[in-house]
Amino acid sequence: MSTPARSIGVAVIGAGMAGRAHLAGYRAASTLTGGAYGETPPAVRLVAVADAHEPFATAAAARYGYQRAETSWQAVAQAGDVDAVSVAVANPLHREVVEGLLAAGKHVLCEKPLAPSVADAEAMVAAAAARPDLVAAVGLTFRRSPAICAVREQVTGGRLGAVRHFNGRYWCDYAVDPAAPMSWRYEGGPGSGALADVGSHLVDLGEFFCGPVGSVRGTVFSTVTTSRPRPLGAVVGHAAAAVGERFEDVGNEDLATFTATFAGGATGTFSVSRVAHGLPNGLGFEVFCENGAAAFDLDRTGEFTTTGATAPGAADTYRRVLVGPEHPYVAGGLPMDFPGVGHGQNDFFTFQCRAFLDEVAGGPGTPIGALPVVPPLSHGLHNLRVLDAITRAAGTGVETVPLD
Ligand SMILES: NC(=O)c1ccc[n+]([C@@H]2O[C@H](COP(=O)([O-])OP(=O)(O)OC[C@H]3O[C@@H](n4cnc5c(N)ncnc54)[C@H](O)[C@@H]3O)[C@@H](O)[C@H]2O)c1
Repeated sequence: MSTPARSIGVAVIGAGMAGRAHLAGYRAASTLTGGAYGETPPAVRLVAVADAHEPFATAAAARYGYQRAETSWQAVAQAGDVDAVSVAVANPLHREVVEGLLAAGKHVLCEKPLAPSVADAEAMVAAAAARPDLVAAVGLTFRRSPAICAVREQVTGGRLGAVRHFNGRYWCDYAVDPAAPMSWRYEGGPGSGALADVGSHLVDLGEFFCGPVGSVRGTVFSTVTTSRPRPLGAVVGHAAAAVGERFEDVGNEDLATFTATFAGGATGTFSVSRVAHGLPNGLGFEVFCENGAAAFDLDRTGEFTTTGATAPGAADTYRRVLVGPEHPYVAGGLPMDFPGVGHGQNDFFTFQCRAFLDEVAGGPGTPIGALPVVPPLSHGLHNLRVLDAITRAAGTGVETVPLD
């Protein structure tokens, strides 16, 4: 096995929930070998983790084996030994950090949603266009799920036929407790809540199967808890924390439902929530097609179910498919790459980090092995445009039924 001439120095900005997944992902990325990954993994140096809260940076650097901890993204931008950087901070910070990193000549992998507004995302895409020599990608991580990609192969390979209906849900319970601490996730206007946080993933998956959304309608937003207590200290992700007596207004939605018509003719029905009792991470969907259907549930990451196409008549009911080496990402991508061994959402980040590093090693737009590249910032901009249309559809087309 040959080694690339120069190793890639990586850093992660933000050592919260997502940042830790990136830190772990880079650590494992060059262990993926064979199968879709090719025989020459990029050589990686784990250089820095930056978090404005110093204890998070220091603990994460020690935990994941990075050379140093920083407390500002600027320190990473200025570092001569860093080549590629993940941005995993609150959405309103994405633009400033990504633009600063690109200006400093760093390859960037930015978390979703790309920005808090379409205008910010457009500026980020322009900044990336000014540096075509750099990889600038957006992390829509569920595109790296082996089972979701296996379902997509059923669709794009023609077995199931044309998609007629995508039905998706992303139901979480992180905000179900009214005493859950105020955080950046609850700030911003309509559309910046559950829709941006988890709906960004679900909309992207709808398009993963059905192609681009053509129109949206019927959006309903609801905010169940309208004010939340300030935390007394730093909080990771949407974890519980000790809170004080000062409350702040919640600016965005706890749940959203909407429908879409895809340009290819399929219909989409969507439901997202952060106040769904008992469901910490309830992503699931069905894809109903001309000759059959398939379904996925994130609680059962290593499998999907499908019906139709090969088992007609009375046997034509849903059957379970265990994801294994015949499916994307598994062969060479897991230490035990056998069917039924299982894997989890954290592995999606490893697969994503690896694809990003492959592109950094080969140049923008160049996959190495059989992995698709991580979508560019323009894809994140498109995602935001769909979210923006969904948000605008909350204010139009409402029909009122008179009370009897
Ligand atoms: N792809 C996924 O599945 C996924 C999952 C979770 C979060 N995310 C995304 O990742 C991003 C971060 O979310 P999170 O849940 O990890 O948030 P988080 O609040 O847990 O972590 C953010 C971290 O950024 C730090 N920070 C704040 N200001 C900073 C600054 N100026 N410089 C450096 N660090 C700073 C905070 O101290 C905190 O540790 C968001 O865009 C979110 O949408 C994606």
